[in-house]
Amino acid sequence: MNSVNHLAIIMDGNGRWAEQRGMPRWKGHEMGARAVRRISDAACRREIPILTLFAFSSENWKRPAREIRILFSLLQQYLQSELANLLKNDIRISAFGRRDRIPKTINETLLNTERATQNCRRLHLRIALDYGARHEIAEIARSLAQAVAERKIHPDQITEETFSSRISPAIPDPDLIIRTAGEQRLSNFLLWQSAYSEFYFCSKCWPDFDESDLDEALADFHSRTRRFGALDRATGTSG
Ligand code: IPE
Ligand code: IPE
Ligand code: MG
Repeated sequence: MNSVNHLAIIMDGNGRWAEQRGMPRWKGHEMGARAVRRISDAACRREIPILTLFAFSSENWKRPAREIRILFSLLQQYLQSELANLLKNDIRISAFGRRDRIPKTINETLLNTERATQNCRRLHLRIALDYGARHEIAEIARSLAQAVAERKIHPDQITEETFSSRISPAIPDPDLIIRTAGEQRLSNFLLWQSAYSEFYFCSKCWPDFDESDLDEALADFHSRTRRFGALDRATGTSG
């Protein structure tokens, strides 16, 4: 059976969830935050060690300022109200993505939550915030070019491994990436890290995604054969 060391989720469809119910889009984001708690607790129970959630993309700045404000205020509420639950369930939180454009108060609350939960070990909940994979890759290319220019490294030392270790040290690539709400694209999420991830697309909008949907995704994942370019170990074939 395939093991899930790292599960990543593109939490999509909050707006549609609300619109389908004649509600304002923010209501969908509010219900989406509840789903985060539901699924992170479920991941703990299933002994999944790393869960990465796409919360805000670098492209999401194109949305109306009011929606962006609401999203950050919901994140602030989530971090503050969840701290006790995170500590109780032994969940470590960390965020990745750009830190220079997000509101100062969010940055402070994030740093406090990261610090308070840094020794939690049961689940590492990683939040992609103001995250764009192309920017991440370009930044690493720039830092490597700088290191070469300063003669700190030789171009031959730039390998897939050095690149991976600079992208997210100590975090294995995601085994499974789930996207909700029926869209079948990455939207600039983990482009480098997803080279051999399995993908699972679910038509339900994120606020409705529950434990049984997670179990369906995991069962589907467990039924797949991951070959990584080699032949199937059991059958010796590529079929
Ligand atoms: C996901 O839901 C949350 C964010 C991208 C911040 P959306 O807001 O994208 O919901 P839809 O896709 O418009 O329904
Ligand atoms: C991707 O969803 C980003 C997050 C889930 C945070 P979007 O709703 O922004 O993606 P597109 O625009 O449909 O590709
Ligand atoms: Mg969307």
